[in-house]
Amino acid sequence: MTPEEIPLKSDATVSALLEENRIFHPPYDFKAKAFIKDASIYERARQDPQGFWAEWAGKLEWFKKWDKVLEWDVPYSKWFIGGKLNASYNCLDRHIKAGLGGKKAIIWEGEPEGEQKVLTYNEMYLAVNKLANVIKSLGVVKGDRVAIYMPMIPEAVVAMQACARVGAIHTVVFGGFSAEALKDRILDAQAKLLITADGGYRRGKLIPLKDISDEVVSQCPCVVHVLVVNRAGHPVNMQSGRDYWYHDLMEKAKVYCPPEPMDAEDILYILYTSGTTGKPKGIIHTTGGYMTGVAATTQWVFDLRADDIFWCTADIGWVTGHSYIVYGPMANGATQIMYEGSPDYPQRDRFWRIIERHRATILYTAPTAIRSFMKWGTQWPEQCDLSSLRLLGSVGEPINPEAWIWYYHYIGKEKCPIVDTWWQTETGCILISPLPGLTPLKPGSATRALPGIEAAVLSEDGKNIERGGGYLAITTPWPAMLRGIYGDADRYKETYWTKWKGTYFPGDGAKKDADGYLWLLGRVDDVIKVSGHRIGTMEVESALVDHPQVAEAAVVGISDEIKGQEIAAFVILKEGNPPGPEAEDMLKKHVVHKIGAIGRPKTIIFTAELPKTRSGKIMRRLLRDIAEGRALGDVTTLADAHVVETLKQKYESEGQT
Ligand code: PRX
Repeated sequence: MTPEEIPLKSDATVSALLEENRIFHPPYDFKAKAFIKDASIYERARQDPQGFWAEWAGKLEWFKKWDKVLEWDVPYSKWFIGGKLNASYNCLDRHIKAGLGGKKAIIWEGEPEGEQKVLTYNEMYLAVNKLANVIKSLGVVKGDRVAIYMPMIPEAVVAMQACARVGAIHTVVFGGFSAEALKDRILDAQAKLLITADGGYRRGKLIPLKDISDEVVSQCPCVVHVLVVNRAGHPVNMQSGRDYWYHDLMEKAKVYCPPEPMDAEDILYILYTSGTTGKPKGIIHTTGGYMTGVAATTQWVFDLRADDIFWCTADIGWVTGHSYIVYGPMANGATQIMYEGSPDYPQRDRFWRIIERHRATILYTAPTAIRSFMKWGTQWPEQCDLSSLRLLGSVGEPINPEAWIWYYHYIGKEKCPIVDTWWQTETGCILISPLPGLTPLKPGSATRALPGIEAAVLSEDGKNIERGGGYLAITTPWPAMLRGIYGDADRYKETYWTKWKGTYFPGDGAKKDADGYLWLLGRVDDVIKVSGHRIGTMEVESALVDHPQVAEAAVVGISDEIKGQEIAAFVILKEGNPPGPEAEDMLKKHVVHKIGAIGRPKTIIFTAELPKTRSGKIMRRLLRDIAEGRALGDVTTLADAHVVETLKQKYESEGQT
């Protein structure tokens, strides 16, 4: 361990803060200027949730006002029925009409140092209009699906907004996903157009997105055209009649494209996320309710002001990038930072340099990143001027109190509130979070549900738990909630609405303390979070059993100090195939090929048998204990079936299945 990696405990101030078990109140001047400083908003929302949400919907510009706020036919909700609007119009035209065209919309940094670009709202507007015309010229009409497989470059935001402008449904696929994963998503959505780039940079390496796309498109008859952004000057194959350069078509495109008037319930996008089966779910979000939810929560949670420089570090491939880069901040006319690459390139101070250079005022990032920064040491942020920051945010997984305090002390300099925001791909917008000018903070707690949202902790049989642990539940509908799973209506009902009647089951464990604060405890299903990225254990299992040498596989999430969780796989090889480091390496590569690097198991444990209950269910708790070394010490290879059998019997007799 290098001196910079000495754990936090050695830092007296930070450990004192931790031990104090202190409640952190909003600083006086933050509170004085805060957008929401009056707690009556909660009560107002509770008394008339529909009126409350309608008031917020009314802050968007509608081509036609809705006739009715909500239709709730459990579990199907419709919001702002009869209303017509366009998401791109609300993110662009509205601000230009208000005279804000010259305001910076995106301040972009590429990963290679020195590469920077600024786009004003006028420039974004022009690019989105032109691209909307390009998309139309490629035969895309309202309701068609467009897949977007791009690096973190402004053109990715332009692509999403252009789809919204013409009423096409975008489905963004994270640039770190493999060809197979891209193919599955394109086929499920039946995308007609793929927008990609020659490549994008990550930790100094070029990810050849167009080459990967070529592998896929030949197997996707639904894709008629591929539009390619020249980001890196990387040589690519362009298939005549199918593939076009973005810059070529943009040059010739008309400068105005009228925004398509969308019904409030028309689909804005589909975003695939992992569930408990091997097949990712295409989460459907519609236009009116989603835009209302993201626009309002951006304003409340981030206390957004006209002169803020907002930086959400998520990738547009995840829901956080959709809601808190592309739609929420832009609906509010915010100036934001967008960064293409990794936080440690070329050095471990890259984030802090970006904040210093652009005077960022709000930073929204993930606990896994914060834990890496802790490990890298305080000298990196200490060498930079972070005085512009006034608010910090966290998302994607539980933040441990140590990481919270470190973030508060070293990054926020004890003057920035931290908003620990709980939500999901399915929820569309943040549901549980402090309001930074109002809510006293407890490190590690996301505090309470936002105004207009009703959250509870319930027992298995649906009893309300006023104090103690259970499952998180959302008990009333909200505007940005998912409307279903694309092409699989039954799965929507089964996954979220069968545990309790009329109440949404998010799949998270939660605890309520004596003050009514919520503490999110992680997933209770077979979904795991590796570096905040959501992955299904069954997805990795399917990838493993797809290998010809694998007979059976079981995957579990194990704790990891930095990443939160890591993947451990138990594998039974088919007879005649020897286990060992070579087999392990081969299988890891196979999973990366099937899913992408985020699916790569940290450990593969070869076994002759998988411990199962009498009803044939894999005993995952036992596997987790084995993988984390609790049951058997440091196990790397487990070939002796008796060992598993003995453990299984022991666990069964203790009733821990
Ligand atoms: O387990 C919860 C965790 O992330 C899951 C949702 O993952 P995803 O759909 O990828 O969306 C992530 C970004 C919104 C949740 O079921 N999670 C998210 N935020 C938090 C969290 N767990 C604890 N605290 C949070 N703040």
